[in-house]
Amino acid sequence: MAPAQIWRDVGMADKLVSKTNEGNLVRVRLPLAPHIFGGSKTCGHNSPCEFDSHLRHKMINLLVIATIIIIILYFFSSHASPIPYFPTNKEDLPMIVTALRLANNQVVIDLGAGDGAVVFAAASEAQNNRLTTQFVAVDINIVLVAFMLLRRHFHPNKAHITILHGDMFLLHYKKIIGPKKALFYIYIAPWFTKQVHDMVKELNMPSKILSYFYEIEGGTYVKKTNGVHNLFEYTVTKR
Ligand SMILES: C[S@@+](CC[C@H](N)C(=O)[O-])C[C@H]1O[C@@H](n2cnc3c(N)ncnc32)[C@H](O)[C@@H]1O
Repeated sequence: MAPAQIWRDVGMADKLVSKTNEGNLVRVRLPLAPHIFGGSKTCGHNSPCEFDSHLRHKMINLLVIATIIIIILYFFSSHASPIPYFPTNKEDLPMIVTALRLANNQVVIDLGAGDGAVVFAAASEAQNNRLTTQFVAVDINIVLVAFMLLRRHFHPNKAHITILHGDMFLLHYKKIIGPKKALFYIYIAPWFTKQVHDMVKELNMPSKILSYFYEIEGGTYVKKTNGVHNLFEYTVTKR
């Protein structure tokens, strides 16, 4: 019989099995899709076949890649939210934070907060200025909410940040706002802006709405700031 260690180029998978059954230590250059299964493998009676563990690793890698693709698709699917996720342009963040005019007796509510870009930038600014402004980030997409919860955990001003999972049109805002002044930030599809405006008006509390990118349908803005995209400011008065 051949020596304990044999080098072979094997053309078919069954040859790999028969060689292994003979009890020889076989060094095999795997023939099937070598870019997937890797290069040389060692098998034998007294040593575990590396083939299984390599295959397992490759399967795990494929699973991780598939999971990432599913999460990315979920981000943009209408099943996750009726308004797809697009983050506010980072270059506009300083403009937006300035427009929020952060104050102590204020609650800033980001309706459809996405990854929390605005809320976390504003919360950092509030902390730098020793303000007690409260921040509430609402999103319907559970993946984005999980991401925001993680970000909140590491944020130095986390005590003033609340992350809520839910539909922005179903929350009890009076309870969230309490005696403070409310400012709503939105970056949502234009066909939902009027619905938000009506909902805020229904609260019958003096509030502000900052709408990024889109004007509120039927509303009259009191200020427009030009950035990479525009920012429109609305005041909502008591009836
Ligand atoms: C265009 S993104 C804006 C993200 C973030 N505000 C920003 O400026 O970076 C819109 C977000 O609204 C969320 N959304 C859509 N419909 C919603 C709803 N009914 N309630 C809460 N969030 C919603 C989406 O999941 C998405 O993250």
